[in-house]
Amino acid sequence: MRVVLFTGKGGVGKTTTAAATAVQAARAGIKTLVMSTDAAHSLGDALDVVLVTTPDDPDPVVEIEPGLSALQLSASHSVRRSWRSVQDYLLTVFKGLGIDPVVADELTELPGADEIVALLELQKQVESGPWDLVVVDCAPTAETLRLLALPEALAWHLERLIPAQRGLLRALRPAAAAATGLPLPGVQVLDTLRRWHESLLEIQSILASETTSVRLVLTPERVVIAESRRTLTSLRLHGLTVDQVVVNRVFPESASPESDSPGPDQESTPTAWLASWNKAQQRGLSEVRHSFDPLPIVIAPYLSHEPVGTDALAALARARTGEVGDVLRTVPAQGMTVCPEDGGYLLTLPLPLVTAAEVDLKRRDDELLVSVAHHRRVLSLPSVLRRCVVTGAVVRNATLRVRFIPDEKLWPVHERESVARE
Ligand SMILES: Nc1ncnc2c1ncn2[C@@H]1O[C@H](COP(=O)(O)OP(=O)(O)OP(=O)(O)O)[C@@H](O)[C@H]1O
Ligand SMILES: [Mg+2]
Repeated sequence: MRVVLFTGKGGVGKTTTAAATAVQAARAGIKTLVMSTDAAHSLGDALDVVLVTTPDDPDPVVEIEPGLSALQLSASHSVRRSWRSVQDYLLTVFKGLGIDPVVADELTELPGADEIVALLELQKQVESGPWDLVVVDCAPTAETLRLLALPEALAWHLERLIPAQRGLLRALRPAAAAATGLPLPGVQVLDTLRRWHESLLEIQSILASETTSVRLVLTPERVVIAESRRTLTSLRLHGLTVDQVVVNRVFPESASPESDSPGPDQESTPTAWLASWNKAQQRGLSEVRHSFDPLPIVIAPYLSHEPVGTDALAALARARTGEVGDVLRTVPAQGMTVCPEDGGYLLTLPLPLVTAAEVDLKRRDDELLVSVAHHRRVLSLPSVLRRCVVTGAVVRNATLRVRFIPDEKLWPVHERESVARE
């Protein structure tokens, strides 16, 4: 099953582009589901249908037309209900610590609940839905990045929490409870955490899979392009494949070669105003081409009306130009690779649009912490690298390259040779 996610800065046309892509695919005979990770109801507005779900609706999928279905996430979901057991436990701990109940209540709110609900629904649809294509309309960039990084980050914490707690429960339950005066989590709490952990690992593999890709939607304006460049880097940092850039709301004239610009004194006339925007968009478009090369670029025109309803969305999809391609076609995943080199190993991670100065690397036990600006990824090192030390790192050709050599202390020479022979 192919999964395509649309993200980009707020208001650039993510929902419209996602819905237009879904309508076009469905009308070409591809069985398509379009869903939104955004709690706002704009997907229904764009499709011009009412997507209402009652909290416990077992099947919130609505058929819009043959081959096209849509799904609006429900705000109250089993995730929140299962969180209840964890929350009750945390509340008793906080009470034991003498924390104000109002503060405790806030502290125990499930972080990123909407995001978790959306990811679990995506997982359910990918695993058991009858679709050829799932189109996901994501919230603006910052939330989407948090959403896409969530499975790995949460799984990391849960992995550490679960075994430790299990051991504690077996060996220390009475003693620990007596010593600290705090209750230990019950079986139900641990079960909830374990179930989530399993789901998160599955979601992680869906996001990293060859059949999943992200499309970046933007408008040809400097501020939007600047944010989109940073988004591309962050998406790559989290191991997601970006396979297309959609430039939306392009004025018809802007796609043609540069025309003469009006002088500043003429800007008050409508024609001069438009010519000035055309020129700015032309500059924006060449910046987009320069920034995102070699990614395929699709240009969607600025229509004279809001594209609302399936027919208008289909018309917008048809009016797009550039490297539109086949929505079901996948591109190779652009994840981390490790290969032997000069008696050691070379780890590579594609990181477009960054310089070495912006990247920070830290080794922590069996993990490599890679940070770019405010985003950090915890890479779990493959077993072969765990007994190695980092000897250097560079960013070259839009790729982070980290060199490892076997640690003499941890890895006796005869063992290293036998690994090399394998
Ligand atoms: N190519 C276009 N031509 C004309 N109007 C458009 C085009 N693309 C989007 N719009 C309109 O622009 C508005 C914003 O679009 P949309 O809701 O798709 O943006 P979004 O990126 O999903 O916003 P948000 O960040 O709030 O989720 C809508 O009114 C939509 O109909
Ligand atoms: Mg939207």
